[in-house]
Amino acid sequence: MTVKNWTGMLIGTVALLILAISFGCVKQRPAALQTAEPAQAQETAATGVAEGGSVYNVQVVPLTTQECAQCHMDQFTRIKEEGGRHVSVSCTDCHEVYHAYNPLKNNYAEIMPKCAACHENPHGEDAAVQKCADCHADPHRPVAAIPDPSNMEPQCRVCHAQVAQTLTRHPSAHTEENCSSCHSEIHGRIPECSECHGNHSPMVTMNTPQCIACHPVHEPLQIAYSGEIENNLICAGCHEAPYEDLKTHQTKHSELACAECHPVHKELMACQDCHGDAPHNPAIHQKYPKCNACHGIAHDLRM
Ligand code: HEC
Ligand code: HEC
Ligand code: HEC
Ligand code: HEC
Ligand code: HEC
Ligand code: HEC
Ligand code: HEC
Ligand code: HEC
Ligand code: HEC
Ligand code: HEC
Ligand code: HEC
Ligand code: HEC
Repeated sequence: MTVKNWTGMLIGTVALLILAISFGCVKQRPAALQTAEPAQAQETAATGVAEGGSVYNVQVVPLTTQECAQCHMDQFTRIKEEGGRHVSVSCTDCHEVYHAYNPLKNNYAEIMPKCAACHENPHGEDAAVQKCADCHADPHRPVAAIPDPSNMEPQCRVCHAQVAQTLTRHPSAHTEENCSSCHSEIHGRIPECSECHGNHSPMVTMNTPQCIACHPVHEPLQIAYSGEIENNLICAGCHEAPYEDLKTHQTKHSELACAECHPVHKELMACQDCHGDAPHNPAIHQKYPKCNACHGIAHDLRM
């Protein structure tokens, strides 16, 4: 290959590049088109597109996302793989203006797409959530690039006011914790109780859903359970005596779950709640108004 050919090819390649770039900004920078003119002539002459003497007698179509990607593989890959719902948005849907950056004009921020063009106040009016880029650090992967939750600690409460309110209304040790000490690592992660707690009833293995059934996590002292707690060992971890009594002194009560007789924690039921006011001859009850005059206690009915 001769040096002449090399120079020709070099000019051709540079021209092609300028041409491709200039297509993208036909509307914004007509001046760039002028620079591209000789290249256009050469290109069209070579491919024989020009007709009727005008090299402009061609249909110019905007660059597609695929064509942008030929030079901007990085942005393309980020959207493709981690763009979330932005995969439905093409490059030029957002970049209506591009290749218009001019350091002399210091216009970078001005020409970059604005979230507000498509999103109107997605998180409400609060000032703490107006700087989109604070959290959506990369528009090409808007959710995947959300920073470590500890950076958002002050804003959790703005977006999750309901949860914040629950924690405040029911003070517990969890109210003192940062949201992000539990919801750590990535936004929305749900922790296991076992990351911080052991099991208070070592005879049973309990998992997080079971813990939550008794301890709603944002108000863990509002202990609530239903008759569905069938495993008496869970209660026995803290109440050994009733458990042992019922086991040692077998009666029909031994077949019942603790939670059936104590459906609300710390509350006691009366014998009459289940057996009615007068299971025996009314005269007996008149004489001995208390059942435990003959029956002992519910956990040990020995007479
Ligand atoms: C949802 C809107 C949106 C889409 C879709 C989008 N971009 Fe962007 N892009 C932006 C915003 C906003 C910026 C400015 C980021 C900043 O200021 O840091 C940007 C910046 C850029 C930059 C500058 C360098 C950088 O990464 O910050 C390039 C290059 C770019 N985009 C190319 C593309 C290409 C190519 C596509 C299609 C494959 C595309 N963008 C799709 C919104 C978008
Ligand atoms: C022939 C290669 C090429 C093609 C095709 C191309 N670009 Fe670029 N683009 C560049 C180069 C080179 C730069 C400057 C260096 C950089 O920022 O990466 C640039 C810069 C940018 C920038 C940041 C600076 C500015 O002035 O806007 C954006 C945004 C951008 N391109 C978007 C696009 C979009 C959108 C498309 C498709 C419609 C596209 N580009 C097609 C090569 C290309
Ligand atoms: C050209 C329009 C357009 C622009 C500009 C735009 N978006 Fe979007 N965005 C969309 C569309 C469309 C969706 C999908 C909406 C849907 O499915 O309901 C979306 C979805 C999102 C989502 C949810 C993504 C997911 O996977 O759940 C986030 C976050 C987001 N946009 C942030 C931004 C941010 C931040 C900016 C500014 C940097 C921005 N968007 C700019 C069109 C746009
Ligand atoms: C303090 C952090 C923060 C700021 C600031 C912020 N966002 Fe978000 N945004 C989030 C988080 C966190 C999500 C939830 C992401 C998820 O689905 O896991 C989200 C979700 C979204 C969604 C999807 C909403 C949905 O209902 O699916 C859109 C759209 C969005 N943001 C756009 C924006 C725009 C536009 C701005 C600027 C006005 C902005 N965000 C500012 C943190 C932020
Ligand atoms: C800008 C608003 C915004 C901010 C700030 C924000 N979130 Fe979210 N969060 C959302 C949205 C939107 C969702 C998804 C929709 C939903 O489930 O409500 C979400 C979902 C969640 C979920 C539920 C995930 C699931 O599986 O149900 C948790 C947990 C969560 N966020 C915790 C946090 C914590 C902790 C912080 C602070 C470190 C925080 N969020 C900051 C908007 C936000
Ligand atoms: C002690 C750990 C812990 C702390 C502290 C904590 N959370 Fe949670 N959070 C959890 C667990 C566990 C779940 C799952 C609960 C479930 O499945 O019932 C959850 C669920 C959530 C959810 C989704 C379900 C819902 O109730 O809406 C959101 C949103 C949330 N937390 C936000 C927060 C915010 C905001 C804070 C701080 C104000 C916070 N959390 C503090 C452990 C915690
Ligand atoms: C990130 C660590 C962390 C996680 C995860 C966590 N906790 Fe806690 N929790 C604490 C700390 C710290 C305390 C206070 C010290 C203690 O009692 O161990 C506490 C206290 C409690 C208390 C006593 C509250 C009080 O005010 O005395 C209960 C009940 C509780 N946690 C239940 C749970 C349950 C149920 C889960 C799972 C849904 C859970 N915790 C997950 C850190 C955590
Ligand atoms: C059957 C309901 C029940 C289940 C299931 C349950 N707890 Fe408890 N938990 C309680 C009761 C009742 C207390 C005592 C409350 C009091 O002192 O008033 C308690 C107290 C606690 C305390 C306070 C410190 C202590 O040990 O006294 C922590 C922490 C705790 N539970 C964590 C858990 C964890 C973690 C799980 C799951 C492995 C769990 N709990 C499962 C009922 C339950
Ligand atoms: C983590 C320990 C713990 C667990 C688990 C636990 N409790 Fe308790 N329970 C307590 C504490 C602490 C008290 C208050 C004791 C006091 O006031 O003397 C209590 C009180 C009670 C009382 C009222 C006692 C009285 O003297 O009035 C009953 C009834 C009770 N619990 C039943 C249960 C049942 C049923 C279960 C299982 C579903 C259970 N508890 C699980 C710790 C626990
Ligand atoms: C939550 C309901 C409930 C409460 C409260 C209750 N019992 Fe029972 N009791 C039962 C059931 C159910 C049986 C079994 C009935 C059957 O199988 O016919 C039973 C059986 C008995 C029996 C027969 C035992 C046997 O092994 O044959 C006696 C005696 C008895 N209860 C006395 C009492 C006394 C006394 C009290 C109060 C200290 C009491 N019960 C509280 C539900 C209850
Ligand atoms: C004067 C003593 C006495 C008093 C007071 C008493 N009972 Fe009894 N109860 C008995 C005797 C004796 C039996 C028969 C025991 C047996 O057959 O093993 C019995 C049996 C029962 C049975 C089992 C009935 C069956 O058919 O198997 C129940 C339930 C019962 N009592 C409930 C009560 C309740 C509730 C009270 C209080 C309202 C009460 N009793 C008060 C002496 C008493
Ligand atoms: C048949 C209903 C019944 C069953 C089953 C039952 N209890 Fe009770 N429990 C009572 C009644 C009624 C009392 C009130 C004392 C009395 O009058 O006998 C009581 C009292 C208590 C007390 C407070 C007094 C004490 O003895 O410490 C605790 C704690 C308790 N129960 C825990 C439990 C646990 C834990 C279980 C399961 C292992 C259980 N109970 C099973 C009916 C029952």
